[in-house]
Amino acid sequence: MNEYYKDKVAIVTGGTDGIGRALVNALLTLGAKVATCGRNHDKLYELQAQHPSRPLHTLVADVTNESDCKRFIDSTIAVFGKIDILINNAGISMRGLFRDLELDVIKQVMNVNFFGAVYCTKFALTSLIENKGTIVGISSIAGYRGLPGRTGYSSSKFALQGFLESLKTELKDDGVHVMWVSPGFTSSRIRDNALNDKGERQKENPMDEDKMMSAEACARHLLNAVMKKKRTLVLTLTGKETVFINKFFPGLADKLVHKFYFKNKELIK
Ligand SMILES: NC(=O)c1ccc[n+]([C@@H]2O[C@H](COP(=O)([O-])OP(=O)(O)OC[C@H]3O[C@@H](n4cnc5c(N)ncnc54)[C@H](OP(=O)(O)O)[C@@H]3O)[C@@H](O)[C@H]2O)c1
Repeated sequence: MNEYYKDKVAIVTGGTDGIGRALVNALLTLGAKVATCGRNHDKLYELQAQHPSRPLHTLVADVTNESDCKRFIDSTIAVFGKIDILINNAGISMRGLFRDLELDVIKQVMNVNFFGAVYCTKFALTSLIENKGTIVGISSIAGYRGLPGRTGYSSSKFALQGFLESLKTELKDDGVHVMWVSPGFTSSRIRDNALNDKGERQKENPMDEDKMMSAEACARHLLNAVMKKKRTLVLTLTGKETVFINKFFPGLADKLVHKFYFKNKELIK
């Protein structure tokens, strides 16, 4: 239990895997009432079964669908009476050079990572203002620094940060806390689920997930930052270095990022 989170109503979109699932588990342990959604019924059922006696509301909802988002937010208010915290977490990634990319890949990624957050925020906003709540967007280091082979992903995260910064300024006198969090590499399913240049699930993962921050550690840092009402949070040493170098030495960042993502002139997928 935690005095700050006890009985707060928290929404986490995409809570069935990775960082979202770690957030749901941590919030329930801290005493919050939690609502989450995802597209897969079985994974939601399994999550519910893991917490039989805890206040967890789940609904099958695809955040790319405006009416699914409305149903999810409205049902959360119907079940728990209000919303204190909205964490826009649901996200997908992509890998492929822009020259080879089906344009639909960029649309799919924008629809989940950007419009999904816009829809949920829109429908939750009245309750969040009434409760002087918190809106969080899970961005990425790719939201500070464009990454090769990830044009759609970086675009979606830059858009998300621009949206949240605008909203933060609009809500300055309403007492609503708005923040965006940029995890570095975090162990999860995101790289297996990434879309390839044809829009199919990539299924292969070129990276060693064991060397990454755990989803649980990422969730812990995030919930701590929400409690402290931080403006932004950038995670992992590599993540912090990338954001710093890109801000002050963008030419050097171009070289380092290119070197990291290409081997023998081929994109590392
Ligand atoms: N892991 C990293 O290294 C990393 C780094 C920086 C930022 N991030 C960001 O962190 C967030 C979470 O990623 P993760 O790494 O935890 O990924 P993950 O393990 O693939 O989990 C993604 C979650 O989002 C849900 N989801 C995906 N598309 C959805 C949709 N259209 N509607 C509703 N739910 C949807 C998935 O559930 P269903 O499949 O059942 O729908 C799943 O629960 C994302 O925004 C990602 O961009 C991750």
